[in-house]
Amino acid sequence: MDTTLSIFLQLADAVIITDIRHRIIDVNATYERITGFTRDEIVGMKAGLLKSGLTPAKTYEDMKANLGQGKPWSGVFINRKRNKALWYSNITISLVASGGEEYYIGVFRDLAQLKEGVYISETRKSKIQYEILKVLALSCEVRDPDIEGHLVRVQELTTALLHRYNALNRSILTEEYIQSVVNACILHDIGKSGIPEGILYKPGKLNVYERAIMETHPLIGVDILNKISTELDDELFQQEMRIAKDIVAFHHEKWDGTGYPSRLKDDAIPFEAQIVSIVDVYDALTSRRAYKDAWPAEQAVDYLRSQRGISFNPELVDIFCDAMICDSSGYLNEDKRTGEKV
Ligand SMILES: [Fe+2]
Ligand SMILES: [Fe+2]
Repeated sequence: MDTTLSIFLQLADAVIITDIRHRIIDVNATYERITGFTRDEIVGMKAGLLKSGLTPAKTYEDMKANLGQGKPWSGVFINRKRNKALWYSNITISLVASGGEEYYIGVFRDLAQLKEGVYISETRKSKIQYEILKVLALSCEVRDPDIEGHLVRVQELTTALLHRYNALNRSILTEEYIQSVVNACILHDIGKSGIPEGILYKPGKLNVYERAIMETHPLIGVDILNKISTELDDELFQQEMRIAKDIVAFHHEKWDGTGYPSRLKDDAIPFEAQIVSIVDVYDALTSRRAYKDAWPAEQAVDYLRSQRGISFNPELVDIFCDAMICDSSGYLNEDKRTGEKV
């Protein structure tokens, strides 16, 4: 590399040099130290390798617009280090000509020391997502005053099952994914807002026509989410919305392919929907309904086990049932279970 370029690498800040197609030509020692990537590992790769998905799309559009006109550009990137930790940095990118070629020089200023409030922290972001999705779920199911208890228990059981699964599978799931599923699962029955009350609250068994109408609630739910997605077109909700759609659409699919509405089978059913289907049924069984009493936890666990490989993913239902048996009070105290509908 010629000296015009290599001189930039001596700066104290993290520096990256790319070609005009954003392919990495070189990085300095500070960049290596902060990101955890060695120079040898990433030279030749695209600079977007560190993208976390959390930098707003508009930031990249602004960057491209400015650089495309040959102007320097500054903005804030939320990247991911090698160890998956987030890296908030302000970057200034300049176009530099050297040896008849053009290069981009990116100089990063670490923003890790910034106080919370300048950027939304991950914790705060998750809390906002949780609160907004909860309000959304409750307002769609406002006709049922007992629904909140069911939704909160489904969230608690989903959290517990995901953590048990992760502990037994060498933390294959990221905390971020787990939190997104927990936030999104509260929406699982949002489509019931489109079902007539005469069917929704019928004390007895549904007839074949009523059942067919009832079974449209996953599709109605997806329709509602699609409408909301255009309103909530924000990176803050992207992952939640994608996961919520999978849960809403597929939480009544069965492992053997006899569920509804899509008759998906085995792992064609999204993982998050497999999880929610187990905890939703468990909570339905152990809650009082218009036409049945609440089942004791042991009876519900026996039923879930009988549906191993039929309704449910065998591995997940084993983990769930084993955990419920070990913790004889269940994940929840019995006094929280007061007879809500599902
Ligand atoms: Fe449902
Ligand atoms: Fe439910």
